[in-house]
Amino acid sequence: MKQSSLSHLVQPFHVMELVKAADALQAEGKPVIHLSIGEPDFPMPEPVEQAFARAISAHKTRYTAALGLPELREAISQYYQTNFHVRVPAHQIVITSGASAALMYACLALINPGEEVLLADPGYPCNKTFVQMAGGTPAFVQTQEAENFQPAWTDLSSQWTPKTAGVLLASPNNPTGTQLSPRAMREIVDGVTARNGFVIVDEIYQSLCYDSPPQSVLQVTGAPNTQNPLVVINSFSKYFGMTGLRLGWMVVPDSLLPAIERFAQNLSICPNTPAQWAALACFTRETLAICEERRLIFKARRDFMVNALPKAGIELHSTPDSAFYIYAKSPYNSERYCKELLEQALVCAVPGKDFSEFRGEEMMRFSYANSMDRLETAIERIQFFNRS
Ligand SMILES: Cc1ncc(COP(=O)(O)O)c(C=O)c1O
Repeated sequence: MKQSSLSHLVQPFHVMELVKAADALQAEGKPVIHLSIGEPDFPMPEPVEQAFARAISAHKTRYTAALGLPELREAISQYYQTNFHVRVPAHQIVITSGASAALMYACLALINPGEEVLLADPGYPCNKTFVQMAGGTPAFVQTQEAENFQPAWTDLSSQWTPKTAGVLLASPNNPTGTQLSPRAMREIVDGVTARNGFVIVDEIYQSLCYDSPPQSVLQVTGAPNTQNPLVVINSFSKYFGMTGLRLGWMVVPDSLLPAIERFAQNLSICPNTPAQWAALACFTRETLAICEERRLIFKARRDFMVNALPKAGIELHSTPDSAFYIYAKSPYNSERYCKELLEQALVCAVPGKDFSEFRGEEMMRFSYANSMDRLETAIERIQFFNRS
């Protein structure tokens, strides 16, 4: 069958080959330790699980409004007020099928075919796909470890061309576990606004931070409007541990709402209904206490890994303070190293190729979304492998 050119343009994740090899080893009974996983290793918080079950029993399984349950939009608005002291009107909050759908809608609403979008490199591999789906061209902006792999406005402005439509960033970022400073955010939003562009900020790992309170670009700019051409994206996947429920949200300027609503109506009708009802339980004191407890567990693991990896022969050149990733220098070509580490030491970490156009072969990503005893064993294995 003849296929579309888009279907050839979309890249596979190179890491999937490695994960398949890891699965095959596990199927042979080999005790592989995964430092490759991009989701929390905890189940979803019990109050959310119970709320999900209640929603199903109460037959809350029909379509909702395309923009999401009004109650949930209101609860998120309240969450911004309580936790970030920023007023985001509920009508500017749109519930989506994960951050993934939010990224897709934002790109479809903002990019014209032939326009370029600046993407910080390294970054989340799917971002380039969202840009391409909208007919845009990703333009990668290399970031430096000395800057914690986050771009400054000068890095972005030096690559701005007449074709540039805007910028897509993540803070905290995947694969680096590092954040943009409020000052850098201010400068980026101001610089982009002066050039009539847009800024999409993906804050999916927002509350998983370990050295400072969680932050949002919205604290710097206020709610998006014509002066702040901003779309902010978030998700229930990571901090709230609900990856499989496929629920996220986006904060958009009023002017963009009708377009986003049309994309939502046409592309997904509405987000998962029982998941939306369950998500209302995320903002209770009980659930937030569970998520906080887990954040502290992630922090202890981060502390352990940041200390242990260099002793095991892995160099770190940045300070990860968020998400659950460490982006480190691979001892040699990262694809070969990760393959050999898996085959010989039964530790699955991922090469940088999926995340970076520039230094993917040099770099690799470790995820510490795994128990402390497994992390300890993984470090022992890495150390033994690097010394042998
Ligand atoms: C930076 C980033 N953005 C978006 C996503 C997609 O998340 P969701 O599960 O909310 O669709 C991920 C998933 O790993 C991610 O790392």
